[in-house]
Amino acid sequence: MKSLKILISLIVFALFLSVGIGNSIAADGKAVVDSKKCGGCHKMQGPPDKTIADVLKRKAPDLFYAGSKFKEAWLVGFLQKPTMIRPAGTVYLNNIKMGEKKDEIGDVKPCASALSKDDAEAVTKYLMTLKEPTMKAGVIVDDTFSKAKAKVLFGQKEGCSGCHRDKADSGGTSCPTLYNAGERLNPDWIFDFLKNPQKYDPKIWMPRRELSDEDFMLLAKFIASMK
Ligand code: HEC
Ligand code: HEC
Repeated sequence: MKSLKILISLIVFALFLSVGIGNSIAADGKAVVDSKKCGGCHKMQGPPDKTIADVLKRKAPDLFYAGSKFKEAWLVGFLQKPTMIRPAGTVYLNNIKMGEKKDEIGDVKPCASALSKDDAEAVTKYLMTLKEPTMKAGVIVDDTFSKAKAKVLFGQKEGCSGCHRDKADSGGTSCPTLYNAGERLNPDWIFDFLKNPQKYDPKIWMPRRELSDEDFMLLAKFIASMK
């Protein structure tokens, strides 16, 4: 009995310790974000831009709900070696030039983050604390769905591929690529965002669709399956 009590108190102590360590890593991450001036390009705190003029001045995507939006493992890799997500930059209107035959994309650079592994892990812990309070977790479950129906919704019916690439070589270039979205985005966030993109970004040109929850779920599962 006595040894059981000791064991239980040891476990409780270890739990306290690990929560404490988690918090202090997140605090280290916040210090890295401040010293690397991530906030010079990204909004690290809400509220989102309220006017189109402010959106047009945006240098980089908002990060103040990063903990709801991203998958932790993806962030750790990206922060060390950023890849290109938006082929025409954060605000494509600022980067599109009239070419001879068609519009051409100007010189677009990926994110400037180049963190060490330790810093990337600490910053990720911090970013994961930045949550959108109204987003429900556990809505999208990983089960089977009709890929054929989802493809019709995404491609023909709702025209999502006019703005987003669902494959490396096809789809629109003005918006984030989605062909690796399954590694990058939290499926619950995809669902919440699709239902009302303007909740996250009031002036964003992603259209708000009037679909059933069932169709939104189908689209969220389809996008989450793109890896
Ligand atoms: C010079 C400006 C600049 C700085 C400084 C910068 N970034 Fe970025 N970041 C960008 C741009 C531009 C993008 C969009 C890249 C794309 O979509 O291809 C981006 C994208 C991101 C994304 C993905 C966001 C999304 O919604 O897709 C994350 C996460 C991120 N940056 C984190 C950071 C962190 C953390 C730091 C500091 C260590 C940082 N960035 C510093 C410009 C910057
Ligand atoms: C008129 C162009 C347009 C259409 C059509 C469109 N979107 Fe978007 N979408 C956007 C813009 C703009 C954003 C936000 C861009 C940003 O964060 O830089 C976005 C963001 C997204 C994101 C979040 C991606 C990320 O990494 O931040 C998802 C998921 C998404 N759209 C899915 C869809 C789906 C599904 C459809 C069809 C129902 C659709 N979109 C139709 C313009 C569009």
